[in-house]
Amino acid sequence: MYPEKKIPIIIDCDTGIDDLLALLLAVQSPLLDILGATTTAGNQTIENTTRNTLDALEFLGRPDIPVAVGRDRPLYRNVLAQGSIHGANGVGGYRFPAAKRTPDHRAAPEFVRDLLAACPDKVTLVALAPLTNIAVLLEKYPACKERIDKILFMGGSIATGNPTPVATANVWYDPEAARAVIASGIPVVMCSLNCSRGAYLTKAELAKVRGVGGPAAAMADEVLKAYYATTGGQNPRGLNIHDLCTMMYLTDPGMFTGDWYFVDVECKGELTCGMTVVDYEDRLHKPREEKTVYFLKTADRDRFADNFFRALKSYG
Ligand code: BDR
Ligand code: CA
Repeated sequence: MYPEKKIPIIIDCDTGIDDLLALLLAVQSPLLDILGATTTAGNQTIENTTRNTLDALEFLGRPDIPVAVGRDRPLYRNVLAQGSIHGANGVGGYRFPAAKRTPDHRAAPEFVRDLLAACPDKVTLVALAPLTNIAVLLEKYPACKERIDKILFMGGSIATGNPTPVATANVWYDPEAARAVIASGIPVVMCSLNCSRGAYLTKAELAKVRGVGGPAAAMADEVLKAYYATTGGQNPRGLNIHDLCTMMYLTDPGMFTGDWYFVDVECKGELTCGMTVVDYEDRLHKPREEKTVYFLKTADRDRFADNFFRALKSYG
């Protein structure tokens, strides 16, 4: 059964193997209306993440979704992405046919501002990458806040991390941006690393991907093999696909548990820079309106796998 109204979304991504699989899920979902995508540096350079986003959307049959280029580095830190776990081209060496189009002429903040203004409904921003573009948008065009329903973000954690023991990649890369976005007052749904680590494909499931048949499944099989080669050792139970898990919050919210918390970001700590400080035990006694982060804690693993295979099959 199709919903009366789709959820309008704008995807901010640093495509990236798991970003790519999140796009694969979103594009085929009858629940989502993808108004546009913006790119940022993170998993790879802005040139690579932009090319991957354009190529992937065309490959997935949606060359009509406009793509705008975002920042090539964090707000204040002069570091350029180099990448490693997603390979030299950002998608594990997979070669898409080159997209026939170029990005939108606007920079990401102006592009998103215009899309928000043109949409009659409030829009969900899906941030699968460092929050640099969204921080710039909110700083330059604060009136946009009124047009944003929520920000669904891949990142944040309690007592764990991936590039460091306590910081997750998308916060660690640009902690000041994450801090500004979380402090903006817009509801942020945080698909935490604690949550996304519970969503994985087993080795047996990974072995079945190509057998689904069709070009999308063949592509997924290749990029998942590359991802497994670099990150497979992180979870003995299977392969986590963080951004894919995040996108599922929109297509199957019932598979998650979570709660509202006050959250801030450590931007200075010698050992803890990029850590999300979650007031999990309510030490600060913040009122409900200051608890603007809905922190996702768990995801149903079996539903995660089922949803992924259903999406793959829909490409025929
Ligand atoms: C997040 O970091 C990136 O490597 C992934 O694309 C994902 O957005 C996982 O920590
Ligand atoms: Ca990502």
